Amino acid sequence: MFSEINQKNKLEILGKLAASLSHELRNPLSAIKLNLDYMKMGVDELPEEMLESLESCITGVERIEYLIENILSFSRRNRNSSEKICINDVSKIAVSLSQAKASREKITISTEYLDNIAKVEFSKSNLLQVFLNLITNAIEACNGNRGEIFIRTHSSGTSPYNVVWAITDNGMGIKDEIKEKIFGDFFTNKESGTGIGLTVCKNLLEEKDAKLEFSSEFGKGTTFRIFFKTELKVQDA
Ligand SMILES: Nc1ncnc2c1ncn2[C@@H]1O[C@H](COP(=O)(O)OP(=O)(O)OP(=O)(O)O)[C@@H](O)[C@H]1O
Ligand SMILES: [Mg+2]
Repeated sequence: MFSEINQKNKLEILGKLAASLSHELRNPLSAIKLNLDYMKMGVDELPEEMLESLESCITGVERIEYLIENILSFSRRNRNSSEKICINDVSKIAVSLSQAKASREKITISTEYLDNIAKVEFSKSNLLQVFLNLITNAIEACNGNRGEIFIRTHSSGTSPYNVVWAITDNGMGIKDEIKEKIFGDFFTNKESGTGIGLTVCKNLLEEKDAKLEFSSEFGKGTTFRIFFKTELKVQDA
């Protein structure tokens, strides 16, 4: 019993340590990223191999940023306050933040947003995190093979989950035998994955009573859909 409590305390301390370490890493990392982007501005004067190493530094920094943001979201539930927000606006920010990564992989992202979509109660930064994680997965699923990603918002027509954000990719798809596992905590089938992306999405969406579903055909592609709860009737959406 005592060792159980001891173990729980250790895990709690470890969690706090991971969170504060992640937080401390944020600023120096932004400085590194900013300087790398600045160096990239002189692209015309750089030899080809220098540009390649610069690109790989940027990719590395982006991966660390991804992990830091997700560790912080995972360990600090409910810290961000929610407000009535338009998911189209947040989605546009997520797409523009993902654009550089997508272009590097020769992937196009197209969008179709429903005008005057009903607002939802959510934290802007949490929702941005969810969208970024799902876009990152879609990009990774395309594996650089002339990928196409389509993001759409619409009304489901079924109350109370009226507002829908959907992302479709024409990537590798998900094998039937792992479909049940992907929402399991920290499941990954990627060589350098941690499985934190969907775990964080699931937690942040559950907090706001939103649903995350997917359909996928192996070899063809995948669609993830988020259903947001709203009090408004369909005609108001
Ligand atoms: N769009 C997608 N297409 C194909 N498989 C997907 C897609 N999204 C998720 N998956 C599957 O779900 C698993 C879990 O995704 P999750 O984002 O939680 O972790 P990850 O992407 O493997 O690692 P990390 O997010 O830490 O980089 C993935 O490893 C992959 O097998
Ligand atoms: Mg992921």
